[in-house]
Amino acid sequence: MCGIVGYVGHRAAQPVLVNCLKRLEYRGYDSCGIALLGKDVEIYKDAIRIEALEKKLRPHINKAGIGHTRWATHGKPSQGNAHPHADCTGKIAVVHNGVIDNYLALREKLTQEGHKFRSDTDTEVIPHLIEKYFQGDLQEAVSKAIGDMSGSYAFVAIHSDWDGMVVARNESPLILGVGDKENLVASDVPAVLDYTDRVIYLEDGDIGVVTGDGVRCFRNGKQIDREVHRIPWSIEEAQKGGYAHFMIKEIHEQPRVIRNTYKGYISALEPVVNLGIRKDAGINDILFIACGTSYYAALVGQQVIQSLTQIPVRVEIASEFNYSDTVLGRTWVIVITQSGETADVMRALKKAKEVGCRTLAITNVVGSSATRLADETLYITAGPEICVAATKSFIAQLTMLYLMGLAWASGDIRSRVSMATELRQLPDKVQQLIDREEEIAAFGKYLAKYENVFFVGRGLNYPVALEGALKLKEISYIHAEGYPAGELKHGPFALLTPKTPVVAIAARDNTYDTLMANIKEIKARESPVLAIAEEGDIEIEKYVDFAVRVPKVSPIFSPIVNAVALQLLAYYTAKERGCSIDTPRNLAKSVTVE
Ligand code: M6R
Repeated sequence: MCGIVGYVGHRAAQPVLVNCLKRLEYRGYDSCGIALLGKDVEIYKDAIRIEALEKKLRPHINKAGIGHTRWATHGKPSQGNAHPHADCTGKIAVVHNGVIDNYLALREKLTQEGHKFRSDTDTEVIPHLIEKYFQGDLQEAVSKAIGDMSGSYAFVAIHSDWDGMVVARNESPLILGVGDKENLVASDVPAVLDYTDRVIYLEDGDIGVVTGDGVRCFRNGKQIDREVHRIPWSIEEAQKGGYAHFMIKEIHEQPRVIRNTYKGYISALEPVVNLGIRKDAGINDILFIACGTSYYAALVGQQVIQSLTQIPVRVEIASEFNYSDTVLGRTWVIVITQSGETADVMRALKKAKEVGCRTLAITNVVGSSATRLADETLYITAGPEICVAATKSFIAQLTMLYLMGLAWASGDIRSRVSMATELRQLPDKVQQLIDREEEIAAFGKYLAKYENVFFVGRGLNYPVALEGALKLKEISYIHAEGYPAGELKHGPFALLTPKTPVVAIAARDNTYDTLMANIKEIKARESPVLAIAEEGDIEIEKYVDFAVRVPKVSPIFSPIVNAVALQLLAYYTAKERGCSIDTPRNLAKSVTVE
């Protein structure tokens, strides 16, 4: 979604804003712009990349300004629709993320009052409303403007007759970066990490006043205190560090990410899991709610937790749950969200809270919206994930779900201890797989020439097939479908030809023999089959054309190694096709609109 930045302090604002916008590039965008605060507000914007915009800028020494990366919702990507947007006087500029639901009515009224609009965006009503209400006090004008607006917004406003910035938030993320004689505003933490690791998360309904000397937060006109969080991420973690793309760097970080995620919960002396969160005796069932990759993690978690704990587990896609009549009794609602900001997930969390469910958030981002709304939080500690395609956060989510299963398991203690011991060996197994990435790169080159690929798996590895297909489609633009292996014959067989390769995940569990039967059926339709198969599995060679080998692990942990193999496969396929791997077209890292 749109990225917002703002700076006021002792440095020239322009290079700071450009740098902060570059840190937000991973969110995806189609246009960008900045506005610098001086005697007038100077705006530079276009439907171009940030590097191209930077070349158009002339040196400025102004000490305050705002910037934006746009992800079009209202109006096509163009210079006119890019942010910042100005009022009629040219003294006010605004950058915004979200959707103003009543913008058409506001626009009509403001037009009747003499305001001239220059874009197709919903955002443009904000500077005009501020202009209407401004009588020397920007904070007061913003406060009156939001009184007229409905919808979701995080915006920053500047006025050439006002020192600093005024910001407001409702249902879209916005943070304040608290520095030393300089302060920042951003939609996401990595934007400010070069300047400070101290951030304030604004709540819905908050207004912030940001100057070089400090930040102040207001609610209903009264000044309030908001906690300053220290972010445990270094700027190095948010940089490529010599890798060609963030995606491959993040894949390589996974052994460490698994370790960091289980570290605090499994004692080195006695491998039992203690999460510090108890499963309440009054809970009848668990409902996982998530989107995209996090949803696929939940589908794996459903099977793991059900089998280890005997607690019934359901899973719903957040955007569907929000319009469904799902029965919530004594249900423990657990949302899984890397960013902690996904709008569909936040809405689902609110709905669950409204009906009195106990809620838990599994997330990666300290202080994110989900953590502030849920009753309890478990952090996956994956570090900043910059590539739009989720990789290390998926593996960390799976690790956390295994920990939950182990912590709440009802079975024999010896088998739990042996599972916990094996969990601690997973980083080495994943490392062994990564060490052989060249072999997988060769298969990526092979897949790159096709336009349609099926991914199949069974049981625990069916969600992994879905995730493999999602990874491939989002970064290589190859049409990919994930299916339970037994379902192809119920329709998709019609599409199988020698030009539709099938990637089959062959876990050595109770589904193996049936999967081999499914592979035979696929081969009869002449589709090439590439298996993801365990080392030492000789049997598979009778059935498939090629095999990517993964280290041997117990079947319950097979989703981890198989998912990493599919991430590498997708990465090298997309690389061969010359795709924009970290920032795929039309996608955003943090999806903050419903
Ligand atoms: O931040 P979240 O985990 O809530 O994000 C959910 C999805 O938008 C996300 O997993 C998306 O599907 C990934 N970019 C896919 O790689």
